[in-house]
Amino acid sequence: MIHKCLFPAAGYGTRFLPATKAMPKEMLPIVNKPLIQYGVEEALEAGCHTMAIVTGRGKRSIEDHFDTSYELEHQIKGTDKESYLKEIRSLIQTCTFSYTRQNEMKGLGHAILTGETLIGQEAFAVILADDLCANMGGKGVLSQMVGLYKKYCCSIVAIEEVDMSDVDKYGIIEGEEIEKGVYKISNMTEKPSREEAKSNLAVIGRYILTPDIFNILRVTKPGKKGEIQITDALLEQAKAGRVLAYKFEGKRYDCGNINGFVRATNDFYEAYHR
Ligand code: G1P
Repeated sequence: MIHKCLFPAAGYGTRFLPATKAMPKEMLPIVNKPLIQYGVEEALEAGCHTMAIVTGRGKRSIEDHFDTSYELEHQIKGTDKESYLKEIRSLIQTCTFSYTRQNEMKGLGHAILTGETLIGQEAFAVILADDLCANMGGKGVLSQMVGLYKKYCCSIVAIEEVDMSDVDKYGIIEGEEIEKGVYKISNMTEKPSREEAKSNLAVIGRYILTPDIFNILRVTKPGKKGEIQITDALLEQAKAGRVLAYKFEGKRYDCGNINGFVRATNDFYEAYHR
């Protein structure tokens, strides 16, 4: 039902400098796997086979990662190290990866609009790879959202409750709870101050968007920080129809900052590698 997943991956990752000086932040590993690979695995589990990646300068290693390395294959063929490549080989065989470049950094909304050429006129998912989501043993977050999309056929954002001291880091929603954990959005604000925020329900990096979002984004004026915000476009969509917010099951790690990154590393090590 949702076949394509868009990955905005053009950002600089300045919070991880110097690590991200010559390496994309999406390639930072949690234990032994780059962040973006976790995202691709989550998308595939949710039924998406086409990965549409919006890149920028200095992001070539993402393309190389999702491609066969013949030299490496040749080197390790028949050795016990071959098992390390099992997962990535299977992703390369099962999924299609397409790329387009965002040549100006004009915000998340602009990045998503740049991906229109890879998506076309169908509903699609968006994963921000530095929000790493895990639902150990259960359904992935995007998969949960696809289930909800089947019922409501409208744009959906994933949300979680955050401390009031952190509301200025997120898109914050207001709305009416129409079923357990599902809200019909009446208002959305990008990174409000603590005083401005009407709730602590924060959007995290998982979206399902209906394709009319592209026409809305085309006319969305720069908002917070002078950037074109997906939050502003979604508010327009919510006013014209229906946009839902979904309190997902599982845990989300903000791997765009060092504390979240270290927490994810520890938890994933404990869960999968010890
Ligand atoms: C973006 C969005 C914001 C959302 C956040 C989730 O912000 O603009 O609405 O809450 O992702 O991670 P960024 O973290 O890119 O500043």
